[in-house]
Amino acid sequence: MSFPLLDEWLPANHDQERPQMILSTVSGNGVPDARTVLLTEFDSEGLYFHTDSRSRKVADITGNPAVALTFLWPGFTRQLVVQGRAEVASVPELAAAFETRSPYLQQLAWQNSSEFAQLDLDERRSQWAAFQPPAGAPSTWTGFLVRPTRLTFWGSNQDAASRREEFNLDGGDWVSSYLPG
Ligand SMILES: Cc1cc2nc3c(=O)[nH]c(=O)nc-3n(C[C@H](O)[C@H](O)[C@H](O)COP(=O)(O)O)c2cc1C
Repeated sequence: MSFPLLDEWLPANHDQERPQMILSTVSGNGVPDARTVLLTEFDSEGLYFHTDSRSRKVADITGNPAVALTFLWPGFTRQLVVQGRAEVASVPELAAAFETRSPYLQQLAWQNSSEFAQLDLDERRSQWAAFQPPAGAPSTWTGFLVRPTRLTFWGSNQDAASRREEFNLDGGDWVSSYLPG
C-alpha cells in the first residue's frame, strides 16, 4: 500500500506529536462504539495504534475486526477516514512502539487498571508518585495494525466545493474515484 496523500497528510513516524484519530468499532453483537486513540505509526501495511488488552475496544475487535479510523484536521480543512480490518501487531512492533511512548504514557500503560481507577485522587497521586517503572512493557500492552480496505481523503476549499478522493481495494487493486464532499 503506497498512498502519496497519506505521506503528505500525516506527520512522519518519528515526529513526536502523534495525530489523534477516532477509532470506531462494532462489537460481535453489532453494538457500535468510538473513542480517541493516537496513531503510533503507519507503513506500507497499514496504520497502527496501541492500547490495553483488557479494554472494550480489544473485546470489540476480537469479536469483529472491522474498524474505522477518522482523522480531523484543525480548522476543518481536511478529514481522512480509513476503513479496514484490525489484527494484532507483531511482537517486535509492539515492543518498539512501547519504547516510543513518552514516560508518562509508559507509566499509564502500567497503572491503567480498573482497580487504579476506583481510587480517589489523593491515592492515585500517591501511587503514581511511588511508581518505579519496570523495564519493558506490561503484559497488558497490545496494539493493532489496521489494514485499509478504503481510504477517503476529504478536502475543503475556501472558494470551491469540498471534494473527497476515495481509494477502494477491489480484488487486490486500488480503485480511485472523486466524490462530492
Ligand atoms: C487525545 C486522546 C488520546 C488517547 N490515546 C489513546 C491511545 O493511544 N490508546 C488508548 O488505549 N487509549 C487512548 N485514549 C483513551 C481512549 O480514548 C479510551 O478512553 C480508552 O482507550 C478506553 O477505551 P475503550 O473502553 O473504548 O476500549 C486517548 C484519549 C484521548 C482523549
